[in-house]
Amino acid sequence: MKGARYPRPREPLHGVDSVSQNMLQGELSTGHLGRRTSPLVLFASVEVAPFSHVGGLGDVAGSLPTALAEAGIRVVVVTPWYGAPDARSGAAEQTAATITVPGLAGAELFQVWRGELRSGVPVLFLVNANLFGTSYVYLSERDRQRFAAFSRAVVELMRVLPVDILHANDWHTCPAVIWHRELRYRSRALFHQRSVLTIHNLAHQGITDVTYARALGLEVDELLDEERARYPDTINVLARGILAADAVTTVSPSYAEEIKTPPFGEGLDRLLRQRGDRLFGILNGIDTAWYNPATDPALPGRYTAENLEGKALCKRTLQRELDLASSPELPLVGVVSRLDRQKGIDLVVEAIDELTGLGVQLAVLGTGDATLERQIAEASRRYPHLVASVLRFDAELARRIYAASDIFLMPSRFEPCGIGQLIALRYGAVPVVHRTGGLADTVQEWHAPSGSGNGFVFEEHTPEALLAAVRRAVDVFHKPVEWQRLVRNAMECDVSWARSALEYARVYDLILGLATSAGAPSPTFGR
Ligand code: GLC
Repeated sequence: MKGARYPRPREPLHGVDSVSQNMLQGELSTGHLGRRTSPLVLFASVEVAPFSHVGGLGDVAGSLPTALAEAGIRVVVVTPWYGAPDARSGAAEQTAATITVPGLAGAELFQVWRGELRSGVPVLFLVNANLFGTSYVYLSERDRQRFAAFSRAVVELMRVLPVDILHANDWHTCPAVIWHRELRYRSRALFHQRSVLTIHNLAHQGITDVTYARALGLEVDELLDEERARYPDTINVLARGILAADAVTTVSPSYAEEIKTPPFGEGLDRLLRQRGDRLFGILNGIDTAWYNPATDPALPGRYTAENLEGKALCKRTLQRELDLASSPELPLVGVVSRLDRQKGIDLVVEAIDELTGLGVQLAVLGTGDATLERQIAEASRRYPHLVASVLRFDAELARRIYAASDIFLMPSRFEPCGIGQLIALRYGAVPVVHRTGGLADTVQEWHAPSGSGNGFVFEEHTPEALLAAVRRAVDVFHKPVEWQRLVRNAMECDVSWARSALEYARVYDLILGLATSAGAPSPTFGR
């Protein structure tokens, strides 16, 4: 059979009715899959921008696969379709393939639809109206059931596609890693395959009642110490994924180190230390073709590091749009963020009087915690023309804010990587960040004598330290020659995926036995 590398298992695995193997393989072996000699990666994520997009996971799943493909790796993305797919929209077309898996209330049937990322990388959408019939990605209580069924279907795809690597992301697809590990010793199809788990945020772990976990089809014999320590009679899906995966990655070298310590380990630091030789920190990137101030259609003015006139126009236009005082002299500080404690938005609220006292304007875009939303809205009423807040998710306005801002504020308490500061660098909004996780790895303090650095970094997570860093930024803003150099440094940073895609390729090679660990990225690897 064309493209089949592994023989079919002699018997179907538990719960599988049918996957139209020939047809799927036929479809995927034509077109965008590159050289047959490179590994084939099945990249599983419950968010994939632009199809589904709640946070950074969606950004990564919508862009990393393209960079992998550009690095010569064959990659297929698999994700649920939320709501009812519509063939007429052109986003996806139905294939003849179906996958049946055991579910809580009897068998669950997924139809397989096929679409593409903007780059042409194939995306398989698993469609099931019962579990994924609404347009919401997350539904809280039902998510364990929904994502377990999806994960199970991913494993069945692994059985019929000539996949080498399952690349799972966050707790939602950990059941796929766990089942794959269990089944691979019983199945010739799965035997040679390996799995990678990327942790985007350790704070979400998929903690599940034992009885319910069993009903979902997860085998539970003994509980881990970590599970017992947390809540009685629960399993921790992420912890089990960390143990089952052949390699674990997280999204920055600093976060990879931090999570091995109790303050950042969210109760899993011991496990992560245990997996230390297979835990890699690889920085996120962004799609620099999409996020490009020289071509971005959402911007009123386009610009480059060499010619920033368009950026001044973006600032003027946004000041008008948000009813801020129209003044090029006032440094405009942008905040585009989920409004919650992780992101340190409470510090911004605490510092708001002093911030406005520094003579800056603030434009805040985002949604989240109701109290923080209220406090931000209240601040914009208190300081009309100085503080503007837009409490919604708006991808185009976000890009107009990045382009208009002189300074981008990201005071996260912890930050696995962070995407906002990467976009800010690309758009020449100088980041002011807390030294943590990926923020520490991507932003270096401006140093005037040498003209080095791309932003401002504060150590203590306090309003005073945040203010001091903004003050340093404002001082430099008022020295145009220095500021221009700083903006240029920011815009010239490599925030693309190119280097990180090669790091992932090395991890794949390592676990497939094609490379030695000497060639693998070390947790200290940085940009
Ligand atoms: C999560 C993390 C963020 C990271 C993103 C993508 O949203 O909080 O730091 O950049 O995932 O990996």
